[in-house]
Amino acid sequence: MLIESDWKEKLAKEAIRARENAYAVYSRFKVGAAVLTDDGRVFTGCNIEISSYGLTVCAERVALFKAYSEGYRDIKAIAVAGETQQPISPCGACRQVLLELAPRAEVILLNKDMSQILMYNVEDLLPYAFKL
Ligand code: THU
Repeated sequence: MLIESDWKEKLAKEAIRARENAYAVYSRFKVGAAVLTDDGRVFTGCNIEISSYGLTVCAERVALFKAYSEGYRDIKAIAVAGETQQPISPCGACRQVLLELAPRAEVILLNKDMSQILMYNVEDLLPYAFKL
């Protein structure tokens, strides 16, 4: 097993499951995400594309906004799964959102079948970030 802890593997599987719901009718690039809170809740998300492309929302942001909108702000980890050969690399906008909404989170990045996994902390993903 590539992932050393049970909870990380479970979260990774939730992200892969969430990917099935991706509404990626324009790019066909499906992404799933799963957020774990300190008290053990999981919120999932997938990318949702809109024909006016700039309105598209990434999987990471859907999952984080779901957690926040339900009152959960203490984010322990987020797993993100692409359908890619290599682990997915979150976009710049999501990195900014992660820094603000989930600064302590462990970020678990997965490829299509969990055969490759990368782990980062949020600060590593966005050095010299904009802060108000
Ligand atoms: N996408 C995500 O959902 N997360 C990422 O980390 C990278 C990109 C989505 C946005 C769009 O629906 C599609 O992938 C192609 O860019």
